[in-house]
Amino acid sequence: MRRVDQLEVSGKRVLVRVDYNVPLSEGRVRDDTRIRASLSTLRYLKEKGARIILCSHLGRPKGERKPEFSLRPVGERLSELLGEEVRFVEDCVGPEVEKAVSELEPGQVLLLENLRFHAGETKNDPEFAATLASLAEVYVNDAFSVSHRAHASVVGVPERIKEKAAGFQLAREIDYLSQALDAPERPLVAVIGGAKISGKIEVLRNLLRRVDKLIIGGAMANTFLTAEGFSLGRSLVDESEIELAREILLASGERGVKVYLPVDLVVAEDEKAERGEEVPVEAVPADKAAYDIGEETLILFAEALSGAGTIIWNGPLGLFENPAFAYGTVALARAIAAENALTLAGGGDTLAAIKRAGVARAFSYLSTGGGAFLEFLEGKKLPGIAALE
Ligand code: 3PG
Repeated sequence: MRRVDQLEVSGKRVLVRVDYNVPLSEGRVRDDTRIRASLSTLRYLKEKGARIILCSHLGRPKGERKPEFSLRPVGERLSELLGEEVRFVEDCVGPEVEKAVSELEPGQVLLLENLRFHAGETKNDPEFAATLASLAEVYVNDAFSVSHRAHASVVGVPERIKEKAAGFQLAREIDYLSQALDAPERPLVAVIGGAKISGKIEVLRNLLRRVDKLIIGGAMANTFLTAEGFSLGRSLVDESEIELAREILLASGERGVKVYLPVDLVVAEDEKAERGEEVPVEAVPADKAAYDIGEETLILFAEALSGAGTIIWNGPLGLFENPAFAYGTVALARAIAAENALTLAGGGDTLAAIKRAGVARAFSYLSTGGGAFLEFLEGKKLPGIAALE
């Protein structure tokens, strides 16, 4: 796979797939992290005098033109960040788009309207992909976070353009994740949290083949603790996955991977409670549910992290949206950040927790991906990356 600086781009029309699927409120961008992530590639292409055509999706408008999913506010924010005009066209294919593209001067940037206003995008429709591909001579994917989608702009277009490469953001993300999974500095410790095992079975299976230690927290840990025979009162337990949790625990033993589960929990009547009570896992009251890990667990997890060479984290360890149950997740974010290791994290909630803990800059790398990050951890080849090879 080539990187954008290995292509000849001067004067060429370059279609860049970015992921500008960002939160908006009242017509303004609320979090511009993903826009900033694309700046290094855009600045490089500008400097080289490429004619830059940006395409992205925003939300899930399901093939319909819905004004609340317009990328126009994103163009305005990008223009502020680049310190110059970003042109905008109200569609991503068609005569108006062709005209706007033909008027682009070297170094200028044009943002196309939301790709998902056309049903052909998510269906990877050949005609839609061909029309989009016909806009450019060169294709760059700089959107790791959408590379798990076999959509037209991610797969269909690069199949039709010979000159293609990864942007700097995508390349950097692949480098960090591959290093952590395939050639890690050991010990390699994974921290997996979140509510459900079901979406993370393959992640756990793949990680068991690679990690030295596996730390499990969040509501997911309840299912593992139930598999170990504890009664967790009214805690969220994925009954249908108890057997699977048992299998995973067994497999970890066979592979010599040490699994760490909570030894104490913060319990309360319901998720809106203003405070919780710490109890050992063997003493969860029948009428209460667990919403965070306890102090003893934090000490145990911090010891497991201590001296790690590489740490990968996905999923909060409690219901951190409620400040009464945020302590465990925030403290763990700080414990990971304090380690002298290669530290990687991904997923919307996880990144929000890291920001709340004020330690974002102490992590080696924060993935832009949610679903894409998980699929990478599953060991899958992402279709958008395969299409560049
Ligand atoms: C994301 O936010 O994870 C990506 O932009 C992909 O969005 P999607 O889940 O709607 O395909």
